[in-house]
Amino acid sequence: VTNDALARVMDTSDEWIRQRTGIGARYYAAEGQGCSDIALEASKRAIESAGIAPGDIDYIIFATMTPDYIFPGSGGLLGAKLGIPGVPALDIRQQCAAIPFGLQVADGLMQTGAAETILLVGAEAHAGFMPWNDWDVLYGQSDRTVSPEARERASRHRGLAVIFGDGAGALVLRRSRKAHHGYIGALLHTDGRHAEHIFIHAGGFRRRPYISEDMIRKEEHIPRMDGKDLFKKAVTKLPAVARELCKRHHVQLDEIDWFIAHQANDRINSSVTEALQVDPNKVPSNIERYGNTSGATIPILMDELLRDGKLKEGDLLCFLALGAGLHWGAALMRL
Ligand SMILES: CC(C)(COP(=O)(O)OP(=O)(O)OC[C@H]1O[C@@H](n2cnc3c(N)ncnc32)[C@H](O)[C@@H]1OP(=O)(O)O)[C@@H](O)C(=O)NCCC(=O)NCCS
Repeated sequence: VTNDALARVMDTSDEWIRQRTGIGARYYAAEGQGCSDIALEASKRAIESAGIAPGDIDYIIFATMTPDYIFPGSGGLLGAKLGIPGVPALDIRQQCAAIPFGLQVADGLMQTGAAETILLVGAEAHAGFMPWNDWDVLYGQSDRTVSPEARERASRHRGLAVIFGDGAGALVLRRSRKAHHGYIGALLHTDGRHAEHIFIHAGGFRRRPYISEDMIRKEEHIPRMDGKDLFKKAVTKLPAVARELCKRHHVQLDEIDWFIAHQANDRINSSVTEALQVDPNKVPSNIERYGNTSGATIPILMDELLRDGKLKEGDLLCFLALGAGLHWGAALMRL
């Protein structure tokens, strides 16, 4: 779905979205398609490219902020769809920061002997919270104009609506057989004081009932996002956490071959690149084609880099991400 398509349902423009975010297009899950369905496709491809069978997976870590149901989590649904019922599935809720957290959890599971082959998946179906109902107009299936009320409503949430897209990525993780290769370490942070910088007010169990027509009328089912503040948090916290992690592991920033950063906004990553004074060619971006797919951005980007032959054995990777919670962190891995 291009930026011009979005402009059919709200007041925005390709120029504004590209300049402020670097995003040119995004995909949306189809109606009835949950994040576990998209995760299934990504997982099958990851399993295939790892040269293993689904039955070799002995643990699933599933990251999403847009689950199929409020409960249970989507990891179990994915396990069933992959034909591996009985395999433990852990849902993690670190939103856009999921991958550094997931890598640390996976390392812990391997260190304790609880798992050997872990499927770490990030998958999102954000379409359900988009602030319009005029999907036919958006997809160009109808040339009617949307009502002024619908346009005004969508435009009110445009800062949020333009950045998110749907997608899934999966990583198969195994203990490295070579010394000094594999996961090196992570440095993670959470600060719940900022939980309301980006959150969904409706559907929480502080209220009775937990969902009501009144909440929908007040648009509380659409995430509220303080984009400016998140931007500032990301451009300060991500360079700081990367520097600290490198210091702890005696790694120089210029030794890192690839910074695989969450794709929230190209301007965020440009600013992080500048703050770290690293070569921009080491900070790849694919946000132009997918938008912000939350927990899925890092595995999608990693898959593209692998398939393009860019990631080489021995490369040192630094993962970087910040998301709703707030959660943020960095992780180091030697391929
Ligand atoms: C969302 C984000 C792109 C908004 O960019 P911004 O420059 O902060 O934009 P603002 O919200 O301050 O709006 C600036 C102007 O653009 C307008 N605007 C906002 N969204 C717009 C859109 N999609 N199209 C056109 N105009 C838009 C605003 O109405 C405002 O106009 P005004 O100055 O006349 O009031 C940016 O803040 C961002 O990316 N933040 C980080 C968000 C993030 O990372 N979220 C995920 C966390 S994991």
